[in-house]
Amino acid sequence: MRYLNLVLVAVLLSVSSCSKSKQTSIAPIVTPIVVNPVNTTLKDMPFKFGASVNARLLENNPAYKALVIKEFSSLTTENALKFATVHPLEGHYDFTDATNIVNLALANGKRIHGHTLNWYKSLPAWVTNFQGTTADWENLLKTHIQTVVGQFKGKIASWDVVNEAFEDDGTYRNSIWVQKLGTDYIARAFEYAHQADPNALLFYNDYGQEYSTAKRTAILNLVNNLKSRGIPIHGIGLQMHTRYNQSDANITSAITTAAATGLMVHISELDIALNPDNNQALTYTATLAEQHAAKYKSIVKAYYAIPKAQQYGITTWNVTDADSWIPTEYSRPDWPLPFDASYQRKAAYQAILDGVK
Ligand code: XIL
Repeated sequence: MRYLNLVLVAVLLSVSSCSKSKQTSIAPIVTPIVVNPVNTTLKDMPFKFGASVNARLLENNPAYKALVIKEFSSLTTENALKFATVHPLEGHYDFTDATNIVNLALANGKRIHGHTLNWYKSLPAWVTNFQGTTADWENLLKTHIQTVVGQFKGKIASWDVVNEAFEDDGTYRNSIWVQKLGTDYIARAFEYAHQADPNALLFYNDYGQEYSTAKRTAILNLVNNLKSRGIPIHGIGLQMHTRYNQSDANITSAITTAAATGLMVHISELDIALNPDNNQALTYTATLAEQHAAKYKSIVKAYYAIPKAQQYGITTWNVTDADSWIPTEYSRPDWPLPFDASYQRKAAYQAILDGVK
C-alpha cells in the first residue's frame, strides 16, 4: 500500500512538473520513479532479535531456512545441544546438528546462543541410570559442560548454563542434579563453563518469572548470591512462554527486576499463547490477532526501556506457527508466533517493529 502511494506521488509530481514547463505540442512523458519499498526485517531491530531453530527443518525445509536467514540476527539451538541429543551415550558426543546450526549462523553473520548445558529434562538413559559417588557425578557434570562448551569455543557467544532449576513456588526443583550434588552445583556449572570458554556469556534461564513472584525472587536471590561470590554469571534468561492475557504489569516487573541485578537480560524463549485454556474448537480471528500483536508490542516496549547495555536481545521459541512447540506440547490449536503457518508475517510482526518506535 505504502509502496503504491509512493509511486503515485512520484507520478503526480512528474506530471505536475511537466505541466509547469514550457507548453509544447508533445505530450508529457510520465516516468514513474520507482521507490524501493521499505524492506525492514527483525534483523533491523535495535537489539538482537532471534529465534530458536530446529536442525531437521533447516536441513529439509528450504523455505524455513530462507526465513531464518532473512529475519533473525541471533539463533538459539532448540534441541541440538540438549544433553540427550549431544551426549547420547557415555563418552560419545554427537555434534552434528549443533555444528550445522553454528555453521549456518556463522556463514550468515548471526550470533549463536547455546541451549542448554544443564537441565532436569532431556537426559539420556545413561545419565538417569548412572551409578557413582558424588565425585563421579561431579565429574560427569564437569566433563559434559567442558566438552560441549570447548567444542564451540569462540563460536557460540553465550550459553544457558542452567535451565529451570526452580519450581513455581520458589523452591529448588528436586532434579537429579540436586539429588546427587546439592543445590550449589549451579555455581560450579557456571565455573566449569567459564573455564572452557572465558569469553562466553553465561545465563541462568527459567520460565514463570512474570507470573510467580516467589519464583522470580528465588531466581534473583540465586543470581545476586552468585554475583556476590564472584561466580561468572552474565545474564538472566526470561523464557517468557506467556499468553495474550498476561498483565503488562507482571511482564514489566519480570523485566525490570531482572535488569536491576545489573546483568544482561535475554527474553530467551518468547511465545504468546492465544489458547491458554486449551479450547479445542478455538479459531484464529482478527480480534485475537490484534490482542496478540498488542502483547508483543508491550513486551518489546518494556524490554526496550531497560539500559541498552543490558539488552542481550529477544528470541522467539521457534519461528512460525507451523513449527511452534506449543500445539504439540499442549495438544491444542494455537498461534503463538509472529509468522503464521504459511510463513507470512502476522500483525504481531509489525507490532514488534512498532515496539521500538
Ligand atoms: C522444547 C522443544 O521446543 C521441543 O521440541 C522439545 O520436544 C521439548 O523442549 N523450555 C525450554 C526449552 O527451555 O528447551 C523447551 O523446548 C521449551 C520449554
